Amino acid sequence: MIFPSAIDNDDQSLIVPLPSPIDPEKLPQHIAIIMDGNGRWANAQQLPRTMGHRAGVDALKRTLRLCSDWNIKVLTVYAFSTENWSRPKEEVNFLMTLFQRVLKKEIEALNLKKVRINFLGNLDQLPQRLRDLINESIELTSSNSGIQFNVCTNYGGRNELVLAAQKLAQRALDGELDPSLIDDNVFARELFTSRYVDPDLLIRTSGERRISNFLLWQLAYAEIHVTDTLWPDFDSISLTNALLDYQSRRRRFGGVDSIVNEKL
Ligand code: FPP
Repeated sequence: MIFPSAIDNDDQSLIVPLPSPIDPEKLPQHIAIIMDGNGRWANAQQLPRTMGHRAGVDALKRTLRLCSDWNIKVLTVYAFSTENWSRPKEEVNFLMTLFQRVLKKEIEALNLKKVRINFLGNLDQLPQRLRDLINESIELTSSNSGIQFNVCTNYGGRNELVLAAQKLAQRALDGELDPSLIDDNVFARELFTSRYVDPDLLIRTSGERRISNFLLWQLAYAEIHVTDTLWPDFDSISLTNALLDYQSRRRRFGGVDSIVNEKL
């Protein structure tokens, strides 16, 4: 069903074919991922947690490549939450340095692959060097035509909603906006994700069944796929399983079922 030789091949110019059981007509347009389990992966191998994060970067590169090759339009990943600052200082520093190093090293390859990158979150609180690299990479890739890759960094769903409410309230105070005209669309335009369709599929690794303050507004109708696989082990088989799970649910809730539900 899969073509391991193509998937294991590091040559980025080769396109990994979509495994045959996956229906190319029913792919999610937007996949969101909570990449969880780096620490447990490292613990299980008696390695420091930092090695888990390094292995997590490899899993992310693999997944981005597959999503790009399989024609997914938007991939949004949760790299660092507003709550993650409470981790030990050494781990936070390691993650910030890792993001910088990875971005610097990978940006040319991402650009060649026509990836368009964006960072969602409260970026003002990130180290200046990382913010500079983020801005450079957003600008470098802004006119690319390939997959939209969003990295949620210092991101919190509640914080995003509060910021949107503040912006709308300010516009109302300034007399630019009639509060009675605020509807779903007006609200969504104030979110970090205003330019993207909502995720159709949320994948969470490491078996936890929580949303953890991720894309609270945008996940309203997403199908949720939870796998026990720890993020560093997430591979083409894992992504294939998530897509097949998604496609099975869509088929079940389509047609007559959804019409009946709409009428209730
Ligand atoms: C969750 O595992 C993972 C993170 C908090 C960090 C995720 C970051 C990466 C995979 C690197 C991304 C890199 C770039 C450049 C975007 P955990 O530490 O919570 O694992 P645990 O629950 O097992 O302790």
